[in-house]
Amino acid sequence: MPVDIMLINGPNLNLLGQRETSIYGALSLDEIVRRVTEHARKRGANLHAFQSNHEGGLVDAIHEARHGARGLIINAGAYTHTSIALRDAIAAVAIPAIEVHLSNVYAREAFRHHSMLAAACLGVIAGFGWRSYLLGVDALLGHLGQVHEE
Ligand code: DQA
Repeated sequence: MPVDIMLINGPNLNLLGQRETSIYGALSLDEIVRRVTEHARKRGANLHAFQSNHEGGLVDAIHEARHGARGLIINAGAYTHTSIALRDAIAAVAIPAIEVHLSNVYAREAFRHHSMLAAACLGVIAGFGWRSYLLGVDALLGHLGQVHEE
């Protein structure tokens, strides 16, 4: 039985492929989601992807995960560094979560070095470009004991 997992992307990530491509790469969010969905499918997981530029929309999406998702992968963009509401939402749903970033936030400005979410997550993956999301899927499925490979 495939497991359902959720991928949540936050503000400005809808502009991937156009936005600061030297930092975030040339792939659009649609293309990344396509690749991550396929990666997850081969490992026995149905990936449900959601993006919003709005903090409340992201909180709602995390709450949605309660209705069947076994885990979530979240790139909250800049809200990573500011949002107690997102941290509380992750803690509230008590579903295993992995924080991901395309860029290596620790090699960038100091304000990106702190994550409000990390302590509510299983772990953090940062710095591997779009492949950070694939690593996120592998980490989550490994945690869930879903080790099936096609
Ligand atoms: C990001 C890193 C954040 O600091 C930034 O605000 C983003 C993208 C990343 O994926 O590297 O929007 O989350």
